Amino acid sequence: MKLWAGRFAKETDSRANSFNTSLPFDRRMFAQDIEASAAHAEMLAATGVISSDDAKKILSGLEGILRDITEGKLTLDNDAEDIHMFIEAELTARIGDAGKRLHTARSRNDQVAADLRLYLRDETDSLKALIKELCGTLISKAGEHKETIMPGYTHLQRAQPVTFGHHLMAYVSMFLRDIERLDECRGRINVMPLGSCALAGTTYPIDRQLTGERLKFGSVCANSLDGVSDRDFCIELAACVSIAMMHLSRLSEEIILWSSWEFKFVELDDAFSTGSSIMPQKKNADIAELVRGKTGRVYGDLMALLTVMKGLPLAYNKDMQEDKEAVFDAVDTLRDCLTAFIPMLETMTVLCENMRNAAARGFINATDLADYLVKKGVAFRDAYKVCGELVALCVRDGIILEEIPIETLKEHCGAFEKDVYGAISLESCVNARNSEGGTSPLSVARQIQLAKNALEETK
Ligand code: ARG
Repeated sequence: MKLWAGRFAKETDSRANSFNTSLPFDRRMFAQDIEASAAHAEMLAATGVISSDDAKKILSGLEGILRDITEGKLTLDNDAEDIHMFIEAELTARIGDAGKRLHTARSRNDQVAADLRLYLRDETDSLKALIKELCGTLISKAGEHKETIMPGYTHLQRAQPVTFGHHLMAYVSMFLRDIERLDECRGRINVMPLGSCALAGTTYPIDRQLTGERLKFGSVCANSLDGVSDRDFCIELAACVSIAMMHLSRLSEEIILWSSWEFKFVELDDAFSTGSSIMPQKKNADIAELVRGKTGRVYGDLMALLTVMKGLPLAYNKDMQEDKEAVFDAVDTLRDCLTAFIPMLETMTVLCENMRNAAARGFINATDLADYLVKKGVAFRDAYKVCGELVALCVRDGIILEEIPIETLKEHCGAFEKDVYGAISLESCVNARNSEGGTSPLSVARQIQLAKNALEETK
């Protein structure tokens, strides 16, 4: 029997009921629903809307329900329309009359919005903690590889030598921004809609500030219509999660490339790779590929949320029940990805020799050769032209810049001297890029320190 059965002459058709119910996916908010109900009941008693005796019964009834669900003694009945109806009905079954007073000055519309905000507030905190952990892993790997030289790429063509530590610290910058974004998003999630009631507020002398404080909300929403129909916080969280997934996907793509035979810059631990059922030589970076693939799914969640909301008139519409699966999926997916990705990264072996060998071919010190001439007084455009000719010469003869004899260099430009070979060694190229944020080992050490400070500052 539905709680709203009075108005109806018939029972809900079972097909309508199973289509309508949100219990299969909103059951995960049972603890938040109970917590919000307890705060609401306390406020109702404090303002004299219900007796303190009734409030006591409600609180102990809710406590019992929470305990029984947590201990697996009470199973959630999939016939109920949603978690809110289930818990209220269960409460009334347990404590009788007092249970029927809980829904005074409340509606499922403000209730669901409050539960969802409480739930996502916690999820945001746990995602932040996981991303912090990822940053920690990246930073410690970057520390080990401050001096490991690899080719830096533009257009996926070898461009200039960089240190592997520098490359990893680029991702730390991205993930630190993700933490910052989640933190700001949390501020907008943490606004209390309770007291908006169905849509227009209530005639009861409620104290929203009191409920808000009890639930540790940062503020209460200013407008009841907005309070029950705002789902920006879900969309914003899905957007933050999408951006974090995009970053994780880029790093995954690099790890996939790096672990191919063509690159062989890294080797994934056997515990974090998979084989092929037919090709015995294969070792696949499935975790990284799945992370890349799941990024598409999270973008889908974001699009679903945006699309559900775009045409809805104020205030609550049942369409909004569709918010949960999408935002839960986005959050779950990022959590699952990080949970597998972090140890995969931790256990990944870096093949420094191969990185260095790749950096040694491909003329990635050509810019440094030109810079050498500029420092000897040659104009950059002239130096650039000379170096271009020298690269062409190397390509023709199958050698690298360091192998051109000094006589040949001098024929192309009189400014060359023997010290050129030291100036264009990969170590010199990397050490010299000591500008703020640059790739030199010293600069990477500074970046690591800044990132550690930033991590410490995040709550
Ligand atoms: N299960 C609903 C949801 O997830 C709860 C709110 C229902 N409100 C209503 N007036 N039907 O959105």
